[in-house]
Amino acid sequence: MAPLFRPGTDSVFRALIALALGVPAVALAGLLLLARSPLGRGSFAPREQPLPFDHRHHVGDEGIPCGYCHEGAWRSPVAGVPPTQRCLGCHAQVWNGSARLEPVRASGFDGTALPWNRVHALPDYVWFSHQIHVSKGVGCVTCHGRVDTQPAVQQVAPLTMGWCLDCHRDPTPWLRPVSEVANLTWRPPGDPRETGRAVQAALDVHPRTDCNTCHF
Ligand code: HEC
Ligand code: HEC
Ligand code: HEC
Ligand code: HEC
Ligand code: HEC
Repeated sequence: MAPLFRPGTDSVFRALIALALGVPAVALAGLLLLARSPLGRGSFAPREQPLPFDHRHHVGDEGIPCGYCHEGAWRSPVAGVPPTQRCLGCHAQVWNGSARLEPVRASGFDGTALPWNRVHALPDYVWFSHQIHVSKGVGCVTCHGRVDTQPAVQQVAPLTMGWCLDCHRDPTPWLRPVSEVANLTWRPPGDPRETGRAVQAALDVHPRTDCNTCHF
């Protein structure tokens, strides 16, 4: 009597069962990973803000330097957002009738800070400092992109541990002269690695990668 199943059938069968069980498992793992990724957590989605502050006008058209509003980046861990009085330094005169600026006037009047919503936020268990990066030649644009072309600031870098470590392991191509850290359109004149090497030697740049660099 001929065999009921041909010899090859068994392995086809196994492959089908593996597929039936495997596909949902992979899909589930994928969903779990996505849920933890910056994309899944909505990090790249634009944030609602109390008023439409636009870096294109202030940085692009008016050429106001980053340090005028985010001076903390040069001297502390936190870059910070400017106090309302900084805005009113201009807007008490410029566009002082604009409806869009009503929240700024109200904030200046009653002394409550404007409730800006954070765009970038690391988990609490991660230690980060602007000052060290800015003073060692890492530019704003490397981590924040072209805010001068964004109607509203959006996160462009993943801010994951892998992203931090990629640069800490090999920072050379990302380094620029400290005088250019806030210049969003600066490009290295030739090979980025060559420019970086010169900066690295001059400033003795050696980022650490052991766990307690960023976690206590
Ligand atoms: C006139 C003041 C002003 C200037 C100049 C300015 N900013 Fe801002 N910036 C703000 C304000 C106000 C916010 C908060 C509202 C928002 O997120 O758009 C902000 C937000 C940001 C954020 C997002 C902060 C977060 O919540 O994560 C980044 C990044 C940023 N600015 C980078 C820059 C860079 C880089 C420059 C220079 C090229 C610059 N800014 C120049 C006022 C300014
Ligand atoms: C150095 C001067 C200066 C400072 C400081 C400044 N602005 Fe402005 N802002 C301007 C100018 C000039 C314009 C008009 C720009 C244009 O239309 O191109 C403007 C436009 C605006 C507008 C658009 C107004 C409208 O009706 O369209 C808003 C909103 C605004 N600024 C908010 C802010 C906030 C919030 C701050 C503080 C974080 C701030 N500005 C700080 C100079 C300044
Ligand atoms: C090495 C990457 C890196 C560089 C370089 C960098 N930033 Fe940031 N920035 C971040 C990260 C990460 C956060 C979120 C920090 C947190 O949640 O503690 C952030 C947050 C901010 C914020 C929100 C307020 C705050 O301080 O948390 C502003 C504003 C900002 N950066 C502006 C700047 C400006 C201006 C420069 C250049 C002078 C700059 N950054 C350079 C990575 C960087
Ligand atoms: C594009 C390059 C780059 C990226 C991205 C970057 N760093 Fe750094 N980081 C540096 C450099 C350069 C230094 C300065 C090292 C030195 O002092 O010699 C540094 C220094 C530090 C320090 C001070 C401790 C030390 O190594 O000396 C901490 C903490 C730190 N980084 C955390 C972070 C975290 C957290 C992230 C991600 C959210 C990050 N960095 C992303 C380049 C980078
Ligand atoms: C250069 C900075 C840096 C260094 C060095 C670093 N981490 Fe992290 N780590 C981060 C950042 C940033 C996050 C947050 C990532 C996120 O939110 O996606 C993180 C997240 C984590 C998490 C949580 C992961 C998760 O999936 O939720 C663990 C656990 C962790 N790190 C362990 C370590 C260990 C162990 C080491 C040493 C081998 C280390 N880290 C070295 C920056 C760093």
